[in-house]
Amino acid sequence: MPEMDKEYVLKTVQDRNVKFIRLWFTDVLGFLKSFAIMPDELEEALHEGIGFDGSAIEGYARVHESDMVAVPDPNTFVLLPWRSTDDGINVARMFCDIRKPNGKPFEGDPRWVLKRNLKKAADLGLTFYVGPELEYFYFKSSENPPQVLDSGGYFDLTPLDVASDLRRDTILALEKMGISVEYSHHEVAPSQHEIDLRYMDALTMADAAMTYRLTVKEIALKYGIYATFMPKPMFGENGNGMHTHQSLFEDETNIFFNAKDKYHLSKKGKSYIAGLLKHAREICLIVAQWVNSYKRLVPGYEAPVYISWAQTNRSALIRVPMYKPGKEKATRIEFRCPDPACNPYLAFSVMLAAGLKGIQENYELPDPIEEDLFGMSPLERKKRGIVSLPDNMGEAIAETEKSSLVREALGDHIFEKFIANKKIEWAEYMSHVSQFELNKYLKIL
Ligand SMILES: Nc1ncnc2c1ncn2[C@@H]1O[C@H](COP(=O)(O)OP(=O)(O)OP(=O)(O)O)[C@@H](O)[C@H]1O
Ligand SMILES: [Mg+2]
Repeated sequence: MPEMDKEYVLKTVQDRNVKFIRLWFTDVLGFLKSFAIMPDELEEALHEGIGFDGSAIEGYARVHESDMVAVPDPNTFVLLPWRSTDDGINVARMFCDIRKPNGKPFEGDPRWVLKRNLKKAADLGLTFYVGPELEYFYFKSSENPPQVLDSGGYFDLTPLDVASDLRRDTILALEKMGISVEYSHHEVAPSQHEIDLRYMDALTMADAAMTYRLTVKEIALKYGIYATFMPKPMFGENGNGMHTHQSLFEDETNIFFNAKDKYHLSKKGKSYIAGLLKHAREICLIVAQWVNSYKRLVPGYEAPVYISWAQTNRSALIRVPMYKPGKEKATRIEFRCPDPACNPYLAFSVMLAAGLKGIQENYELPDPIEEDLFGMSPLERKKRGIVSLPDNMGEAIAETEKSSLVREALGDHIFEKFIANKKIEWAEYMSHVSQFELNKYLKIL
């Protein structure tokens, strides 16, 4: 995306009849927060930021220290295609960096946390590129139980596929906001879809992932349909994953590539994978943050359960897509346990931190496992030293809580707020009496 400066933003607001500018940022869990300013406030906002009360924002600050300043990033200025009115009034948005009144970055701002981790890579001369595949469902409404729109499957094109129109309008809206799409298709489960974004540097992609989630939901709403990124809304069907393709570049060179290697992977590429494998259990809570996330990470679907890597095996946690001659730049690793209901700023931060640790400490990469891990006996897996991801969120919290890597990557403020929040959710879940229990026990006990 072209560099945009403040003058360009001010001029465009005038030229394009923009009446409202929405300032966007996220809370610690990755929920989009926004307030709108009028064009007259814009010059001041671009130069000094706009004050707001952060005490009501999850994971931000307590009431006595809640003055915050939202500083819009002119680089993220776009018009919102679904907000334009027939009489030519436009609404724009910019992502913001959150600062304290003294001008210092607010350590509770997820976007700042990602920037801090990207700086570590930049200090090593590296740029972090990410291509997440965010899957989602269209349902008739947000009513429980969810009602599918079609019974289609992978790449299916059903004639009455209202979803084709939805996907088309969503892609056009994304493209209008400068987010380029590679392709889109129906996914494995009924009413499940995916629109694949072209990979970008991690900060731009985290902003794009937030915009993608809102755009999918806004366009669905226009059609009276409900779109969800809930990791596992239907028992017995595939869940929503966010396979995250990633690579590191030094200027124009993809440092993961090595033409002479059996897997076309460099030493650094292998150590990066080894870093993600070694720290997978610690970072799992950040990339799969809800109780429901672990209902997706179960055997029998395309979601990973065990920690290993492979080139073709889609039951592995990490897949290294096969090298195609002349496609050195496409050398990447696909981390398959994240889901699209994560906070992308924090998820990209911990994945990068784990990978960089592997490089900096020269981790050795174990051999790939191409066999079906779900078909192996527990004894076989044990013998081969294959461990599993956390079984549930409680276990994931325990793993993350003792992780110096995650604490360092997120910083104390967000680390503690995040864990505290997740402990409350887990306690709620563990104490509620589920429909499953009632169905199973009420009649017999
Ligand atoms: N060097 C790279 N670094 C990071 N991402 C990349 C790189 N090269 C390509 N990508 C991204 O990887 C993603 C590949 O998505 P694609 O859907 O082809 O993956 P897939 O895992 O084979 O598909 P599926 O899981 O649906 O079977 C795209 O978003 C693409 O932009
Ligand atoms: Mg994939």
